[in-house]
Amino acid sequence: MIKLPRRSLPLFGDWHSGTYATCTYKCNDECHKDAPNAGAQDTFAEVAERAISRRKMLKGAAVVGMVVGFAGALEISSAERSLAQDGSQIGFTPVPPNTADTVRVPDGYEWRTFIRWGDPILPGVGGLNSDYSNVTPEQQAGAFGYNNDFVAYLPATRGGEESRSGLLWVNHEYTNPELMFAGYDPDNPTADQVDVDLNAHGGSIVEIYTGRDGGMNYRRGAPLNRRITPFTPMEITGPAAGHPLLRTSADGTGRQVLGTLNNCAGGKTPWGTILTAEENFNQYFGLREDSEVPDADDEIRLSHERYGIEFEEEVEEPEPPPVDTSTDTPVGPIEGEESEEQPDPDPIPLASGRKWERFYDRFELTLEPTEPFRFGWIVEIDPYDPTSTPKKRTALGRFKHEGAEMTVTPEGNVVAYLGDDERFDYLYKFVSDGVYDPAMSAEEAGSLLDEGTLYVAVFEDTNTGRWVPLVFGENGLTEENGFTDQGDVLIRTRLAADILEATPMDRPEDVTPDQDRPGYVYVCLTNNTDREKPEDANAANPRTPNPWGHVIEIVEDGETGTAETFSWDFLLLCGDPEDPETFYGGFDKSQVSPISAPDNSRMTPTGDLLLATDGQPGGLGINDAFHFVPLTGSERGHVQQFCTVPVGAEACGPEFTPDGRTLFLAVQHPGDGGTITEPISQYPDAGRPARPGVVSIWKSDGGVVGT
Ligand code: FEO
Ligand code: CA
Ligand code: CA
Repeated sequence: MIKLPRRSLPLFGDWHSGTYATCTYKCNDECHKDAPNAGAQDTFAEVAERAISRRKMLKGAAVVGMVVGFAGALEISSAERSLAQDGSQIGFTPVPPNTADTVRVPDGYEWRTFIRWGDPILPGVGGLNSDYSNVTPEQQAGAFGYNNDFVAYLPATRGGEESRSGLLWVNHEYTNPELMFAGYDPDNPTADQVDVDLNAHGGSIVEIYTGRDGGMNYRRGAPLNRRITPFTPMEITGPAAGHPLLRTSADGTGRQVLGTLNNCAGGKTPWGTILTAEENFNQYFGLREDSEVPDADDEIRLSHERYGIEFEEEVEEPEPPPVDTSTDTPVGPIEGEESEEQPDPDPIPLASGRKWERFYDRFELTLEPTEPFRFGWIVEIDPYDPTSTPKKRTALGRFKHEGAEMTVTPEGNVVAYLGDDERFDYLYKFVSDGVYDPAMSAEEAGSLLDEGTLYVAVFEDTNTGRWVPLVFGENGLTEENGFTDQGDVLIRTRLAADILEATPMDRPEDVTPDQDRPGYVYVCLTNNTDREKPEDANAANPRTPNPWGHVIEIVEDGETGTAETFSWDFLLLCGDPEDPETFYGGFDKSQVSPISAPDNSRMTPTGDLLLATDGQPGGLGINDAFHFVPLTGSERGHVQQFCTVPVGAEACGPEFTPDGRTLFLAVQHPGDGGTITEPISQYPDAGRPARPGVVSIWKSDGGVVGT
């Protein structure tokens, strides 16, 4: 039994997924505010009860552990297991839960951080000094950015299989300025700090190679090294390109945009490009002090508010009149006297957390009201061509995109699975009209992402589900309901999906198709503490509240991603295994590693699911981690912790080389909760304040990771 340190769990009302700084800088304190889709869950009042009774019926006599909570009802008996085939080749001893300020790997494995924030990438760029005080906007524009998240390895040649040398794409989701600049004042950042901050966003491409010890190194100044920032020119393609809502004073065509923001996770295409997902872009837009706040019923303002963009300071409601406790009569104006109606005070314009709008008009919501419509997309980048223009692929919809993992169906269609990471928001997939042919150039194949159908998921409480297409003119996506054309449906995807009554989920993060088992797809739902009341539950999101998250297994009908219907079940209901409401795929919970807040996921060379967590400190009181999860056979649900990350850090990536002998992990926001002058972590360099970095892990005997 892997023991979890005993501690009291956080009070739900105060619970949020990270520490103070993570909340502030990653997603603008989203979890302290009302979700932009709050209330939608009320239409899904069918609670877990029905799903549970159905499962009891299905599993029948095979069920053990009845009556210990609904998850207990899902335990699979040993007799049932022996009938199943064994699918896992896992051979490591799990890393125990811990709170150590380092990366921990199993015995027989080694690790090294080979690139970190500020490391020079482009020719002629210098490194950072020991207190990072020499960082400048110019240095940052040529150096590795902050808060590495998604990691994609590409072999040295396009379409090749090389594992010892290749390219690495890394997302730089956001920054922690309090860990970058001594004496940072969030109310008054300097112009230089803002420009460093901007340049530390985006992504990096670096050439890498395997060192003699088995760990990875990167090449400074290599020809394919590249920085993508919020200033990199990009093209807008697909059905929304050129739409009036995408035009600004800087771009009258609605087809050209500067840069990408809040790149969370992503995906790789079969033609050797990467997809990077724009997530919490709302936080970068604000109003200047002297701006006039748009009316509350302004159409553009309402569209932006559905994406969490705020326009005015929240004014506290005036105190209700005191109650005279002796008579229960409110003390108010004396009868017969006129009560004086106070006029509504003028709304106070709300600045963004980072104050970029003070320095750049395009981040100011009254000067450039349509600029936010140009973010929230999936961006395709070709790392093999350093002169290529990144493309925002509008056919894949606009929301807080978590990632875009892709599969090619047996028929040849390209399918991307897409999560919208917000409490009560939705799960999507894109299916291309055209079919992929390996003879296509990257340019030709990329255009498959411009024509196709975007679907949103409706989970029925019968463990079945439907993919409902977002097509203008169908299912209420009409002019009567405010939509003008297909471009509009895609630009305002969330509002279109609301009309289709999509199922509000517990924050959809990575969605991973199993390439070896067509039609099998794994959906990480990281948590939702706002799903508070039992009537807020739906069959696919049964826990109220859900601070630990869960993983759903979808099986597409006909085992192909082109299906418009599917079946689904739970793989994991995360949390302390001793909690009867958890479920570990039916596996004996006395033998599993505890897991909470699943976020990124990837299939492993051993055919298992690798989960990265973002919230084990808040959910379980232990550091975030990477866990192997077998999906088939008697080991299904046997969660085993493979690696833990340092204090304050979130576990991101993960990624493998094609031979499975190197695993890449991104250590994001280590030391979160401290400051650069009062650090709480020294990862990765002893004696220096913490900074994010990318790690390679390998087996000492050179074997496949996980075996
Ligand atoms: Fe950036 Fe949904 O995590
Ligand atoms: Ca994520
Ligand atoms: Ca995350």
